[in-house]
Amino acid sequence: MTASTLVRPIAFSLCSLLLVACGDGSDDSDKDQQAVCTSLPPLAVKDTYKVGFAQLYEEKGPWRDANTASMLDEAEQRGYEMVFDPGTKPDSAQQVARMQALIDAKVDVIFLAAHDETVLAPSVVAARRACIPTFLVDRAVDESIAIPGEDYVAYLASDFRQEGVLAAEWLIKETGGKANIIELEGTVGSSPGVKRKEGFDETIAGEEGMTILASESADFNEDQAYEATKRLVEDHPSVDVIYSHNDGMSFGVITALEEMGLEPGVDIKIVSIDGTAKATQYILDEKIAVVVECNPKFGPIAFDTMEAYARGENVPLRVSNVDRVFDITNAAEYLPEAY
Ligand code: AHR
Repeated sequence: MTASTLVRPIAFSLCSLLLVACGDGSDDSDKDQQAVCTSLPPLAVKDTYKVGFAQLYEEKGPWRDANTASMLDEAEQRGYEMVFDPGTKPDSAQQVARMQALIDAKVDVIFLAAHDETVLAPSVVAARRACIPTFLVDRAVDESIAIPGEDYVAYLASDFRQEGVLAAEWLIKETGGKANIIELEGTVGSSPGVKRKEGFDETIAGEEGMTILASESADFNEDQAYEATKRLVEDHPSVDVIYSHNDGMSFGVITALEEMGLEPGVDIKIVSIDGTAKATQYILDEKIAVVVECNPKFGPIAFDTMEAYARGENVPLRVSNVDRVFDITNAAEYLPEAY
């Protein structure tokens, strides 16, 4: 993990007096009286916490499932009460409603993985106003709406832009800078969707022999990637690389190519991101060429960071996972730890 600017809780001075003074968060009666915090709320040191987790919803998402399990398991191990509604559809408005339900439930603290950077940002501000400290996990929010260190405590995630750069660098080396690429992007407006594209596209921009034939969102969704692959490969028969922003979409790509009579890994190289066990096995089967890691196991670092904040320690505004690159040279070694 790497860290950047530090933030420290500022207790009473930044809580405004609307109906009553803000307390230190250790007593539910403070919140019952509708205190309003005008800056980062403190978090009391307690034996147990009521923790709200506003996870985004994804269908058939092995990464998301591993991420959720890590958060829930860690909360259970620490004896914390987890308030968690998984949601029923990949919809930002529904996630906004789930954030509001956590605020209404007066949880002590919220962990949020935002489906959309912009749509969820006001919910972070609403939590801060309700004197609930929020930690962003995995997905960022629009910093012009929810300000780091003022509206939320810290953002813990992979460096999505760097993941795109690593994918591009691997591909340039492997192909000698020659490739006709179809790019399948993640969810529109999501931080990994935006940054993985930015890092990859900017890195290959200097390579004259590399062209992005088409780039569109398949929403981090296997079925949408399957449909998009069939259509885009037919429209662009010169394609020899598909860069897919996550493993789930890569599985849809493989199914589509095989149905079209094409051999993944031979006719078309697949470049993926995540590091699921299934994708790692596909590397060993030579169907996927490379997977850039995106580690989903956030539970321990998320709760360690929360507890450090409660103790009044300096907490970095940004905590970044350091991700690895897996290809045929090291996939077998990684497989036992893959999820
Ligand atoms: O935000 C992390 C990304 O979200 C993972 O790459 C992906 O699998 C998930 O959809």
